[in-house]
Formats: sequence, C-alpha cells, structure tokens
Amino acid sequence: MSTSINVDYSTKIPNNINLAGDQRVLKGLEQWHPGYIDWWMTMGPEGFQTKEVYLRTAVSVDPKGWAKFDYIKMPEYRWGILLAHAEEGRKVNFGASKGETAWHEVPGEHRAALRRLIVIQGDTEPASVEQQRHLGATAPSLYDMRNLFQVNVEEGRHLWAMVYLLHKYFGKDGREEAEGLLERRSGDADKPRMLGAFNEVTPDWLSFFMFTFFTDRDGKMQLESLAQSGFDPLSRTCRFMLTEEAHHMFVGETGVSRIAERTCEAMKAAGVDDPYDIERVRKLGVIDLPTLQKKANLHYSLSLDLFGSEISTNAANFYTAGLKGRFQETKIDDDHVLTRAHYPVTKLVGGDIKLVDEPALSAINMRLRDDYTRDCQGGLNRWNKVIEKTGIKFEFKLPHVAFHRQIGEFKDVEASPDGKLLSAAGWKTRKDEWLPSSDDGAFIESLMKPCWERGKFASWIAPPKVGIDNKPGDFEYVKINPT
Ligand SMILES: [Fe+2]
Ligand SMILES: [Fe+2]
Repeated sequence: MSTSINVDYSTKIPNNINLAGDQRVLKGLEQWHPGYIDWWMTMGPEGFQTKEVYLRTAVSVDPKGWAKFDYIKMPEYRWGILLAHAEEGRKVNFGASKGETAWHEVPGEHRAALRRLIVIQGDTEPASVEQQRHLGATAPSLYDMRNLFQVNVEEGRHLWAMVYLLHKYFGKDGREEAEGLLERRSGDADKPRMLGAFNEVTPDWLSFFMFTFFTDRDGKMQLESLAQSGFDPLSRTCRFMLTEEAHHMFVGETGVSRIAERTCEAMKAAGVDDPYDIERVRKLGVIDLPTLQKKANLHYSLSLDLFGSEISTNAANFYTAGLKGRFQETKIDDDHVLTRAHYPVTKLVGGDIKLVDEPALSAINMRLRDDYTRDCQGGLNRWNKVIEKTGIKFEFKLPHVAFHRQIGEFKDVEASPDGKLLSAAGWKTRKDEWLPSSDDGAFIESLMKPCWERGKFASWIAPPKVGIDNKPGDFEYVKINPT
C-alpha cells in the first residue's frame, strides 16, 4: 500500500494531495477556514453543535475501506480534501480534444467555463445544509438525526472540495468565488443560492427524505458528468464525492420507503384497505400514500429544473470543450464528439407534447435528465415493491416532465402529472390534487415531534432494517444528554 492512499491529518486541513508541499494553496485555504467555521456555526445544524454524533470520516479513498466511524462533535469534524486516485494515462474522452492526455492544469481558453461549472456545483453544497438546519429539532429517531448530520457534514466537505479547486487553479478570482460561496444564503432575497431548488424550504422530514432522494440524485448526475471531465483534478474530486453521495441517496430512498412501509402496516392493522381514505389513514398517525405521491411530484419537478433547458448551447459548449461529459460517457458506444448525432427531445410543438430529434450536442442536458429519470424510477420501483408486499393497492409514479416546471420547454404551460396540457384555470382547480396543499403541510407538521429515545421511532416511520456501521437498533447515534 502506498502512503499516498491515506489521508494526511498532520495539517489543519486533512488531505491526500500533499497540501503541505503546496504552501500557496495551504495558506489560502487556512485563510478561508475561519470563514467556513463561522458559516457552519451560524448556518449549520441548529442546536446540536456541542453534541457527540456517531459520524463517519473519510480516512482514505480506497474503495474497500475509506471511512472510520466515531463519536465527534460536528464543528470538530475533519473536513478534508480528498481526490480519487489518478488513473494512469487518462485521456480527454469526449469533445473536440478527444484523445489528448487529460489536463492537469486549466486550459486557458476554458478557464471561465470551468470556473463557472465548479462554482455552480460548489454553491449547492452549503445550500442544502442551510435548508436542513432546523430539522434536528424534530428528528423521528436518533438514527435519522445521525443520518441528517452525516449528510450535512459531507455537504460541507463537498464545499471544501470545490473551494480547493478554486484556490488551486483559479488564482485571485478563484479565491473571490470561494468567498462568495460563504456569502450567499439559501432563500435569501438579496443573496440567494444560484439554483432554484436550493432556495426552497425543507420544512419537515418527509421533505428532507424526498430532497435527498430527488435533489441529491440530481447532484449525483451532475457529479457523474463532471467526473468525466478532461480536467483531471475535477474528475478525481467528483469521483470521490460520488462515494459519499451514495449514502445521501440511501438516506432518502430508505427514509421514504420506511414511511410507506409504516403507513401500510398501520392501514393493515386497522383494516383500512383504501389508500385514498385519507382521513382514516391520517387518524392512524401515519402519512397517507397520496400525500407521499404529492411530495414526490413536487421534489421531482423541482429537481428536473436543475438540469436546465432541454436545448442548451452552454451544455453543448461544455461538452465540446471536454469539460462536462454525459452520464457514463466512456461506456457509451458512439464517437463521443456528437457533431452528426441526434437525440430525441420532449418538446412543445404547436400546442402538443412531442418527441423531436435534435442535434445530440444541444440535447446534452436532456439526455442527462433522461438518465436521471431512469435512476429515479429504479427507486420508485423499490418503494412500490415494499407497498405491494403489504397487499395495499397503490403505486408511486413519476409525473410527466411537463408537470409543474419553471425552466425549459414547459415553463409557460400547465400540465397534469400524466402529461395532459391544462388551461390556467384547469390547473388552479386541480393543483391541490397533485402538489402538497397547505392542509397537507399542516398535517405533516403535526407529526413532526422529536423522538429521541434510544431505539425508538416516531409513529409515522418504520425502523431501518439494519443500523449504521452494523450497530444495533437501540444504539445511541447522537448523545443528546450531556455526559
Ligand atoms: Fe454534495
Ligand atoms: Fe449530497
């Protein structure tokens, strides 16, 4: 085993990139550090900064064992800079420079575009921490609380990952962008985060689970396509971030799955067969399945917006420049230049929704979004299996891509979840059937009571199948009481 695999914890900023040998960047990051801690203390998880949390910390980038678990207070988490191993002889795998040796420095002509990609990715990381900062107070169990905090500290680390690239490769303007990442705030009227979904609120735990399922999954797709980048440091950074990201989606998927499971169990026990008998189901202290569907509709549609316009010159330029590829680029069987290829795009044509062949280069966003939809569908299929096993007749469905959109082809029209176009009035009368209403919100909020006893879970969510790090169900994942 070479020593480069292990993370150097001797410097203030843990890293596996020999930061000690790069005094300029080390100094810059050490100067950025206090501002980060300040941000974490004011915008990070509220009310739990002094509690000991059973967290994993990355100690290597070895896929077989990269994390160690221990009790730690969140502000003392060792946020580090970790890059996946360099792939020997890696090439630029797509675009006009296809076949060149991958870049280890920023190509001058792509500098602005690359910086923009890194800043946009970087901005989402602290944003989600801000959105989720009040959730600890209503955690349905210590297990869930721990998972929330794990996600939060790792989003913090992802911010570090992007800030490292800015400091290392973009000089003064990189350092300024790194400051900006600490200045914007989710939902702020004057200085909002850059992307819409990251300025929405995450008011309750159902929203949190849906967010980690749908919106962190957008993050996964973005990281997957940046991991293909010809700019090797970005690729290596994103590859390791993806390792952590998998847990975030696990939290979301199992969270919703456990809620659906609990609802079905409670319905069976009470002899309620009809999932649409909402009043009776809610009386059981569980969240009815149609409301889960509405929440999924909301988070899926907000997350689709994150992919940008279906037809995008920017996306085409990023691709041709070799900066941002497609999902699993190197596994796709085509020329990876795409100057002559086409891709079917869902568009609005003369008042109808149609599939239209467009130049594949312009349709890069659309393709990534399609890959995302498939990935989401896999999760929904697993949720549906859980429901099916209980004998309750209900199936989650992803709404049509025209439903509830703010960006792209369908931003100016209204459509139902099954993709029928509606008049403004038609939408208004039916909207509450498809998106969470204020009544739904109030009901969910009424369930959000803390459940912090070891081994206990709130009425509306089933316990997990297995604990974190193989710990038993009644493990004290967060030490709430001072010892
Ligand atoms: Fe992240
Ligand atoms: Fe994430």
